[in-house]
Amino acid sequence: MKTIRLSINKKDIKHAGEIIKSGGLVAFPTETVYGLGADAFNAEAVASIYEAKGRPSDNPMIVHIAEIDDIDSIIEGGLRGMAVSAEILANQIWPGPLTMVLPKNPAVPDVTTGGLSTVAVRMPLNETARNLIKAAGTPIAAPSANISGRPSPTTAEDVLEDMDGRINAVIMGDQCDVGIESTVVDMTEGKPIILRPGLITKERMEALLGCEVLYDKALLKDKIAENGSADFAVSEDEEEYAPKSPGMKYTHYSPKAKVRLIAGNDENYRAKVTELELKAMNDGLKSATLEYGGNAEKAARNLFADLRKLDRQGCDIIFIRTLDSKGEGFSVMNRMLKSAGYDIVR
Ligand code: TXA
Ligand code: MG
Repeated sequence: MKTIRLSINKKDIKHAGEIIKSGGLVAFPTETVYGLGADAFNAEAVASIYEAKGRPSDNPMIVHIAEIDDIDSIIEGGLRGMAVSAEILANQIWPGPLTMVLPKNPAVPDVTTGGLSTVAVRMPLNETARNLIKAAGTPIAAPSANISGRPSPTTAEDVLEDMDGRINAVIMGDQCDVGIESTVVDMTEGKPIILRPGLITKERMEALLGCEVLYDKALLKDKIAENGSADFAVSEDEEEYAPKSPGMKYTHYSPKAKVRLIAGNDENYRAKVTELELKAMNDGLKSATLEYGGNAEKAARNLFADLRKLDRQGCDIIFIRTLDSKGEGFSVMNRMLKSAGYDIVR
């Protein structure tokens, strides 16, 4: 298949919308990462996303909408049946990097939700993304536009690295601002439960809702890996660590190089990284080190792009300095820990 390159101008977005409407696949920029989109109501088109990504078919998609009215055909009970807490988050945060898991409308094909009775919905902030949804005239089901298991793409070039020849078109937009995927919050239980942390933090949602927001138990592993203990409230799932979000159980964000995280204060970190770089050199390995000066937003924006860049440079091993696991730092650490397979050196 020839993958055509499209710009973000009106004519090209219209063309991209027609491709989606006729059952094709188009990769497009969002504020978080690039998505790989298909008509959310076209089961065959959605099935071809799994194929293009090499993604397990029990891992559901996020359905992207352009405006709040679009949710009517996606969730049970339609727009008017939406729970008050979900309505508050939608009004306050959309368009933006928040995905809400809500009861699914039977009109949404099972393949889109991996057979679940719930559906994940998000209204992206990126204008090109919303223009594409409008041009397609249908909500767009889209996972991140990477081969399953690889770091999510945050530039059009990174999309092409994985998807050239596998999909119909790529919209060649700018580098994504946020750089890590949206926060996924389950709104179908008593209290909201964060399944995947992102730029929209637990604290921000708690302030908006005036109630406690929990973390899924699967995220405890991150906290324990980070500081040896878990100090936050979690959901009451029976199965310890069993992720509620199907996607969280798979290998993630792995570059070809081995990744090791290094924790510690300036002095300890410096000593450790020097020792490890020397050892890599003596072993004949090409190493590189990523440090973001403790800036979580900068780390989020650059992490995935940096991992891919270092892969292209033929690195064998990548050292990354850990961040403070607070607020957005917790979300970036989640991606770092997964890309390192929880290998953290103190
Ligand atoms: O920022 C983002 O969310 C990007 C852009 C393209 O919008 N998309 C994205 O999609 O990251 P994906 O498929 O890579 O990740 C979606 C996550 C997966 O972990 C999936 O298991 C979870 O959301 N998910 C989707 N539907 C769900 C549902 N009904 N219940 C629980 N988790 C769900
Ligand atoms: Mg993904």
